[in-house]
Amino acid sequence: MYKEIHLDAPNIGELEKLYLNKAIDSGYISSAGPSVSEFEGQCADYLHIKKAVTEKTRAIIPVHLYGNPCNMNEINRIAKKYNLYVIEDAAESLGAKYGGKFTGTLGDLGCFSFNGNKTITTGGGGMVAGGDVQRLDHIKFLIAPECYKGSKAVLFADTGNRIYCRIF
Ligand SMILES: Cc1ncc(COP(=O)(O)O)c(C=O)c1O
Repeated sequence: MYKEIHLDAPNIGELEKLYLNKAIDSGYISSAGPSVSEFEGQCADYLHIKKAVTEKTRAIIPVHLYGNPCNMNEINRIAKKYNLYVIEDAAESLGAKYGGKFTGTLGDLGCFSFNGNKTITTGGGGMVAGGDVQRLDHIKFLIAPECYKGSKAVLFADTGNRIYCRIF
């Protein structure tokens, strides 16, 4: 015979049962739905965040996770309203499309990662894509001032102490 020793005794009560049933009944398990909105609201109150956009906000950085594009129409609408840049983090969404356009091309700038754990890899580094050549030149200047000017995208591979750039 052995005796069971719980590391943490189960303490599932009426509230847990209620929330579980609500989740099953509504079909919302995670990532969306009324409970998520309520939780976000409570977090915002707790952190004293009245609204996401303040006078200090300069950009929105949507992250297209697991190949799933963010709601870019809505994000671009908010960005336009508040005069903000949209910098897409497309590190996990290379090849994904939203409204017929590739993620990373829907905002002002799109950032891609070619690190070893990504869909395609250069071993390290990434790529910034955008339509504003002057801005891309500035990014290139910040990454590697010796890079050429006038390109459409900057591909860089950081191999420790040297940064290689491929210009498109
Ligand atoms: C969404 C997202 N953004 C950015 C990064 C960072 O990319 P890197 O690996 O090039 O630092 C990752 C890495 O996993 C990621 O998943």
